[in-house]
Amino acid sequence: MNLTFDKAMVSLAPFVASPPEVVRAMLELAQVSENDVVCDMGCGDGRILFMAISEFGVKKAIGYEIRRDLFNIVLDKVLSEDVSDRVIVYNRDCITADLSDVTVITLYLTTSGNDKLRPKFEREAKPGTRIVSHDFSITGWKAAKIERFGGHTIYLYIVPDAFQSRLYESEAKERRGTRSFWPFGRDW
Ligand SMILES: C[S@@+](CC[C@H](N)C(=O)[O-])C[C@H]1O[C@@H](n2cnc3c(N)ncnc32)[C@H](O)[C@@H]1O
Repeated sequence: MNLTFDKAMVSLAPFVASPPEVVRAMLELAQVSENDVVCDMGCGDGRILFMAISEFGVKKAIGYEIRRDLFNIVLDKVLSEDVSDRVIVYNRDCITADLSDVTVITLYLTTSGNDKLRPKFEREAKPGTRIVSHDFSITGWKAAKIERFGGHTIYLYIVPDAFQSRLYESEAKERRGTRSFWPFGRDW
């Protein structure tokens, strides 16, 4: 018998759609243009992807969605609107997302969801990538801008500025921790 196990997909948030005006404000805050490749980590019904191509003219919009029913809705729309050359959707855990061509990442997850993705962003997001998050900040990162919109908050982060100072701090702390003790004043 040949048994194979797929790594279980982990839900980082339930489905709650961003209102259209919030989607527009997120894309505007990230100054999205026709040079961008946008990736929505948990794309729901695909509204960010479709607005990114129709109103902002992006090169490509990529979505990852773990719920099969939502993935099917997005796929049907991609096919009916004949935009498969510009909108790509995967029924996959966004932790597996390929960020190599991505210039803008959109998030509407949870604080713990963002925490799970943070190390991936620090390792894999290209310098200059803008990350916009609806309502949930990225713990320990410094936002370049925070915009309040009705009852919503949008955070903009720029890679690597958002986390560089934190990396320097933890590196310096590590160096201080491993320094040998010298009892007669300065030890370096
Ligand atoms: C709050 S909704 C946001 C939907 C859309 N991005 C928006 O702003 O309208 C979060 C979505 O992420 C999906 N999701 C949760 N965990 C995921 C994961 N690990 N990989 C891909 N999608 C995920 C959920 O099924 C849900 O559709």
